[in-house]
Amino acid sequence: MPTEKEVLEALKHVKDPELNRSLVDLGMIRKVEIKDDKVKVTVALTIAGCPMKRRIAEDVKAAVAKVPGVKEVEVELTTMTPEEREKIFGKKKEVGEKKALKDVRHIIAVASGKGGVGKTTVAVNLAVALSKKGYKVGILDADIYGPNVHLLMGLEGERPFSRDQRLVPPERWGIKVMSFGFLAPEGQPIIWRGPLVHRALSELAEVIDWGVLDFLIIDLPPGTGDAPLTVAQVFPLRGVVVVTTPQKISVADVARSIHMFQELGTRIMGIIENMSYFKTVGPDGQEQIVPVFGEGGGEKLARDLRVPFLGKIPLDPNLSKSGEIGKPAALDPESEIGKVFAEIADKIVEKALEFEKLGSCGLKKA
Ligand SMILES: Nc1ncnc2c1ncn2[C@@H]1O[C@H](COP(=O)(O)OP(=O)(O)OP(=O)(O)O)[C@@H](O)[C@H]1O
Ligand SMILES: [Mg+2]
Repeated sequence: MPTEKEVLEALKHVKDPELNRSLVDLGMIRKVEIKDDKVKVTVALTIAGCPMKRRIAEDVKAAVAKVPGVKEVEVELTTMTPEEREKIFGKKKEVGEKKALKDVRHIIAVASGKGGVGKTTVAVNLAVALSKKGYKVGILDADIYGPNVHLLMGLEGERPFSRDQRLVPPERWGIKVMSFGFLAPEGQPIIWRGPLVHRALSELAEVIDWGVLDFLIIDLPPGTGDAPLTVAQVFPLRGVVVVTTPQKISVADVARSIHMFQELGTRIMGIIENMSYFKTVGPDGQEQIVPVFGEGGGEKLARDLRVPFLGKIPLDPNLSKSGEIGKPAALDPESEIGKVFAEIADKIVEKALEFEKLGSCGLKKA
């Protein structure tokens, strides 16, 4: 008869595909029951909507089936309790709870399900639009794998300086900027393992001297991996803004990301649809709006998921060019792009105030 020790040993080699850590180390193996040659393993997923649940179940099955004496494997999936999740990702912080961030009024994360949808472009220009309205704004690049906020803000080669054991973020266009890109040697990829991601982001939440801010925008890496999960736990978020493009495939990924934040007790401020349309001039000299990637995906998703739709951003070469030269397009509030972002910024201010009044959302019970 196989032993529990043998089963756990086999499971040590099974990793959560997104977190890239052993299920055993993550505390995801809740129970192993052995009856003769039958083994039942209960796996607690980090979140109920875990996109990888089928793969995790298959991997567990395959690994346990290889243990000598095992004939049959059953896998039961359940979800971690908030307490179990806290052990891995830290205790979820409420607004006002974190000392280092106590003078920051609204912390807003910008997320997406899929990479390359324009999250960073949106985060940077949104920060600029809020600053143009007179708010005190900071932006934190939490994309540990490919930090680029500092480049889009024209701060290449800058470094934060330290004062009283805190890091003082450099400022550009009136906005305080902190990026992992400042801390890593330029051009060298940073290779992070799961536990380090958590530690680095937690330390960042403590160590940066943001001073008094109305808004802190956090640019996340895509998906539902370590970094977005940790940010939702460690930073007392007012809410999250989710960026999508109109394509269907991206819509499915966004739904997953939204579910993850909702499950972690973070309010969704709304969806922004990026690269929605392209403005051009038709043969008749009239302005034409071309929906390059199809129409209405973001609005439909917002309706289906019952979250607000915050606006559409056109496909505009000025946006990519301005990123390359480190001068965000929204700096000109009279430009077309400037106006689009100003409108979205208004909606976000409105949502932030509404959520502030509602108070802490609290963790949904798993
Ligand atoms: N509305 C837009 N019009 C034109 N180009 C855009 C627009 N939005 C983003 N881009 C361009 O698309 C590319 C990807 O954008 P960005 O880096 O902001 O995406 P991201 O979601 O942050 O990507 P990642 O997942 O890698 O972090 C960039 O070259 C950017 O300049
Ligand atoms: Mg990005």
